[in-house]
Amino acid sequence: MPIDLSEVPTHELMKEIQHRLDCGNKPDKRVILIGPPGCGKGTQSPRIKYEHCLCHLATGDMLRAAVAAKTPLGLEAKKAMDAGALVSDDIVVGLIEEATQQPECAKGFILDGFPRTVVQAKKLDEMLAKRGQGIDKVLDFVVPDALLVERVTGRWVHPGSGRSYHEKFAPPKVTGVDDITGEPLIKRKDDNADTLKARLAAFHSQTTPVIEHYAKKVVVLKADRPQDEVARSIAAALA
Ligand code: AP5
Repeated sequence: MPIDLSEVPTHELMKEIQHRLDCGNKPDKRVILIGPPGCGKGTQSPRIKYEHCLCHLATGDMLRAAVAAKTPLGLEAKKAMDAGALVSDDIVVGLIEEATQQPECAKGFILDGFPRTVVQAKKLDEMLAKRGQGIDKVLDFVVPDALLVERVTGRWVHPGSGRSYHEKFAPPKVTGVDDITGEPLIKRKDDNADTLKARLAAFHSQTTPVIEHYAKKVVVLKADRPQDEVARSIAAALA
């Protein structure tokens, strides 16, 4: 059965067709977003995804979906996530290996929250080398720890899409409701000041070495500025 598009306005259809045609001419890109919790990786991803025709793979979102579905993987990951610790390398590498082969990732991908350890980075490099591919850019989102508490504790999330809002910096049009779907927003269980301390400690000890691992591909972004300014720096870095 063909999909019924009769309700979709013609100009929207034309825009989508033009976008898909433009995508055909874009170069492939494989980009890593790295930075502490609340630095804006999830906020900036949809725009990068649209402009460069990439898929957005966020290991945190994938793990939260597995926890919500109570799969064996989700049950194993939950304890570490609630404590602000990292889940095992094998779990996340397996998720990414499978996800990067989806048709949606044909032009490349944005990795958001992966790799988070040097072991994960090396496994990713090996996996891509086998496919004759490699990472093109690593965007290092730098935000002082002191600012992250307010960002993380004020965050509201649309669980279905992973869209992030902030009660002060990026409020939804209607309080507590997703702008696109009208569905309710939730607070993440790990978005509290105590768990954030553990997440920051994990970032500084285990993830900072990943930035050194990719030193030649890293672009440092000052991410403690308004979202549009950060977006402009990203556009320049990926041009
Ligand atoms: P994950 O979901 O990846 O969490 P995270 O890395 O801690 O990152 P966040 O999602 O908290 O932050 P973000 O940078 O996306 O910020 P956002 O854009 O929403 O991981 C969760 C857990 O899963 C981990 O602790 C771990 O247990 C496990 N896990 C995941 N990946 C793993 C891996 N590879 N290995 C092992 N374990 C793994 O922005 C935050 C807020 O700030 C929002 O409210 C937003 O509106 C606001 N904001 C954004 N930009 C700005 C700006 N420029 N100015 C003002 N406000 C802003």
